Amino acid sequence: MKSSVFKPSILAGLRLNNRLIRSATHEGMADEHGAPTQALEKLYLRIAKGGAGAIITGYAGVQQDGRSSLFNMLMIDRDELIPAYRKLTDRVHEEGVPIILQIAHCGRQTRSAVTGLPTVGPSPVKDFIFNEETPHELDEQEIETTINNFVCAAERAKKAGFDGVQLHMAHGYLLAQFLSNHTNRRKDKWGGSTENKFRIVAEIMCRIRESLGSYPILAKINAYDGRKNGMRIEESVEVARLLESSGCDAVEVSSGTVEDGLAIMRGPNPPLEALFSSTFRFKEMPSLMQAISSPFIRFSMLSPKPLRGYNLKAAKTIKQAVSIPVITVGGLHDLTDISSAIESGSTDYISMSRPFIIEPDIVRKFQDGKQTASRCIMCNYCALMIEADKVRCYYGKPPKKK
Ligand SMILES: Cc1cc2nc3c(=O)[nH]c(=O)nc-3n(C[C@H](O)[C@H](O)[C@H](O)COP(=O)(O)O)c2cc1C
Repeated sequence: MKSSVFKPSILAGLRLNNRLIRSATHEGMADEHGAPTQALEKLYLRIAKGGAGAIITGYAGVQQDGRSSLFNMLMIDRDELIPAYRKLTDRVHEEGVPIILQIAHCGRQTRSAVTGLPTVGPSPVKDFIFNEETPHELDEQEIETTINNFVCAAERAKKAGFDGVQLHMAHGYLLAQFLSNHTNRRKDKWGGSTENKFRIVAEIMCRIRESLGSYPILAKINAYDGRKNGMRIEESVEVARLLESSGCDAVEVSSGTVEDGLAIMRGPNPPLEALFSSTFRFKEMPSLMQAISSPFIRFSMLSPKPLRGYNLKAAKTIKQAVSIPVITVGGLHDLTDISSAIESGSTDYISMSRPFIIEPDIVRKFQDGKQTASRCIMCNYCALMIEADKVRCYYGKPPKKK
């Protein structure tokens, strides 16, 4: 059963030692300019030495208004950053592991208070979490600039030695906002039909290809987003087909948005202590208010079910519609689940995020038969605490209030 998981393969022209990928995970290990630090290099080396088939970095911002409000995000918006990234990729390559840069614009899922710039989106639709302001509706010129910045980011990634880029088109960030009817209400050529909503991605894909030829381009998409009138599997199948015809090399299937509670990274219990200690919406709330509102917040943050392999069914549907490789992420933390997902042909690759946070060498442990499941308890403290600090595993222990 284990054999296919640990057989070398070629993904987007890159040789992977196995079919287990580190999914993009914001690390909060950039410096004030968005350049990678020693701590990030150390982490990637642990993951690479620990047997991962490939590493996808945490999301890197393509321009300043698309910067995340999380702690110390990576940026790829300036040529000056290239040498620091080059050092990082060289070190990872010494371990024989490909490394892909995830490139992103947060759109309305960020805060002016952090970026110093207005938040933007395809349409002026307020976010439930980031609701301090209504996002500015991007005009033609601003869309053009954003497309160009994604292309420049890919060019920098190649110069910096990354083996490819992944477009972050999932989790409610800017490209996902264009694709979802919930956030894209435009009546011009950037809204309406799936082709129109996809146009921004098609332009990015086409111009990266013009500039960089066959350089690997992956995409992470939402199979569905849980929003009213939002993305549904019928349309995400169409998006995957459009990606394939635009020359995308592989698609990673995810789901959920930030305002949809813990739908992206599901877990059994909402981590209220982390919410109250670290997130801008709740940390200033008086203790009495926190106590009174807890039941409501707990309810609104409950993850949908199931908690294991929750994107697998959608990934299988998408895989049947395209011939490019499909990667599936989300609650695939157990080797039996992973093996059967791959052996049954539901997906070509599995990617994981939280299992690498608690055990960067989880793949090696699987391969050596030392462990058959991740020790991650899906407490999701890691997911909330990245607003205030670099990523780490809290293993369900309440973080200290700062
Ligand atoms: C701390 C943390 C940071 C994350 N950062 C990113 C990110 O930068 N880009 C992204 O596409 N997904 C990000 N995710 C989502 C994961 O890649 C993944 O889709 C999700 O956690 C479900 O997979 P898992 O069950 O293996 O953790 C993050 C998840 C966590 C827990």
